[in-house]
Amino acid sequence: MKRTAAGTLRSEDVGQRVTLKGWVHRRRDLGGLIFLDLRDGSGIAQVVVHPDEAPDAARVLDPVRNEWVIAVEGEVVEREAPNPDMPTGRIEVVVSQAELLSRSEALPFNVDGSGETTDETRLRYRYLDLRRQALQRNLRLRSDVTVEILSYFREQGFVAVETPILTRSTPEGARDYLVPSRVHRGSFFALPQSPQLFKQILMVAGFERYVQIARCFRDEDLRADRQPEFTQVDVEMSFIDEEDVYRVIEGLFARVFPIVGVEPAAPFRRVTWADAMARYGTDRPDLRCDLEIRDLTDLLAESGFRAFRSTAEQGGAIRAVAVPGAADASRKQIDGWAEIARRHGAAGVLWLRRRDGELSFQVKDTLSEQELASCAERLELEDGALALVVAAEEPVAAAALGALRVELGREFGHFREDAWEFLWVTEFPLVEWDEEEQRWFSMNHPFTAPWAEDLGRLEDDPSSVRAHAYDVVLNGYEIGGGSLRIHDSELQRRVFGLLGIGAEEAEERFGFLLDALRFGAPPHGGIALGLDRMVMLMAGGDSLRDVIAFPKTTSGSCLMTEAPSAVDESQLAELGLELAANEDGEGR
Ligand code: AMO
Repeated sequence: MKRTAAGTLRSEDVGQRVTLKGWVHRRRDLGGLIFLDLRDGSGIAQVVVHPDEAPDAARVLDPVRNEWVIAVEGEVVEREAPNPDMPTGRIEVVVSQAELLSRSEALPFNVDGSGETTDETRLRYRYLDLRRQALQRNLRLRSDVTVEILSYFREQGFVAVETPILTRSTPEGARDYLVPSRVHRGSFFALPQSPQLFKQILMVAGFERYVQIARCFRDEDLRADRQPEFTQVDVEMSFIDEEDVYRVIEGLFARVFPIVGVEPAAPFRRVTWADAMARYGTDRPDLRCDLEIRDLTDLLAESGFRAFRSTAEQGGAIRAVAVPGAADASRKQIDGWAEIARRHGAAGVLWLRRRDGELSFQVKDTLSEQELASCAERLELEDGALALVVAAEEPVAAAALGALRVELGREFGHFREDAWEFLWVTEFPLVEWDEEEQRWFSMNHPFTAPWAEDLGRLEDDPSSVRAHAYDVVLNGYEIGGGSLRIHDSELQRRVFGLLGIGAEEAEERFGFLLDALRFGAPPHGGIALGLDRMVMLMAGGDSLRDVIAFPKTTSGSCLMTEAPSAVDESQLAELGLELAANEDGEGR
């Protein structure tokens, strides 16, 4: 008999004879009957065995335990006690025949989500964890999203191209994963941090519109929203400007987000990088929170409060965020917020408030009436509001208040938990100065086009040069980033020079790109979206692990396969490699 999907059975099927195959999700023995929840890829249905009426089936099913695999045949009947929580809850299948297909040993944890276990155990037995409904749902969502993305791009005239995994280093700011070559001893492939250079070269090759669901590899410190191996929706287009990229991506999101019932409001809001840093303290602001940071440096630079004066003298910033309704915050709450500020490098927080019409500052008699009044005005400090003030170096003040803005927003009801706030962050600076290495680094990557009108300052005042770079942010997560590219080999050399990549090194590392740019390179640009992050947000999760079938731990290993692993001496010898002794004098 043809197999029926258990999760699809409904009242309309009453009277049908069906065959179900799947896993025993749960077993109950009641009044001499065996009740089994049978689970397959489509869902769960209840089956019941009456030993009097189907003694053979009862014998077969008698020993089954959770996660054994069975086949049953029987009639769909109306349930006496329907279960409104289950889509199949109005029916059950009365078994006439049964077959045991596979046994399961005792499980390391319960697949139905009940009971305790550890993350390590779940990852080690990932195939069991993947049987859980939440993960089944997430991976099926990911599949739907991926298919929809590709069909959208196809309709828009994009060509799907696969670029190599064994390649050269592509600088995106992380360490490379290296693969030694056996044939070319002493030479290494690098796994791509992104397909950046290939997609640009595809533009030189005349494809004009490229898309790839691309696997990327970055050996960097991991967090809940970062994996060493992740997937981008990688896009590149020729003869376009930023507006074209925004339109294509807004169109994509309008197509994909409704899968989870979200209709993004297009066009998305836009904020320049400088504005985002000033108003939200971060380049990926969470606009579900309405609170904004304001700068008070000019108002307090000469105040009677010494810490403010010295911060201003040293070129730092005095900034604050006003929180309506927070004026009665307790000492303990304020201590908690100070701790958050300290985590971001600030000395602590100070408060300013308006209570019962009265303005006051935490350290009495240091600010003049006039100073208090002008701060309150700038902060639009209404009655009952508290403002938290941080005086520190500019990046520290921004980061501390950026974190406090969201924290206090959540605590005092200025945060729309169920909103979907899409945002373009634009006009990133081209480069930033790295104190430690004493050199300029690309904010994005070295192939990003500077603004033509800023080019005159490229060598003399690099930090003031704006880039044609943009990020797309959703609810405080950077879900994509891209730029218009340099399509002129001379300008590319100039930017390499600024980044400390000399002519010889540029030739050695990127000669193929510089060559390609000399043979009729069209103006081009693009973007890459973090597919894992997108699906994570769509699934309502906060860890990439929940949407990646076989994720890695924070230390970058796979507990199921135990990769990375040691290799045979003979394999190393073949590659011409030898392990250096570590401090214990051992090989590894
Ligand atoms: P970028 O490095 O900004 O740009 O990456 C694009 C997007 O990829 C996602 N992402 C990650 N997701 C999970 N784990 C990671 N470790 C990780 N790193 C990045 C983010 C990010 O916004 N070649 C350029 C794109 C371009 O210029 O077109 C690039 O890779 O969501």
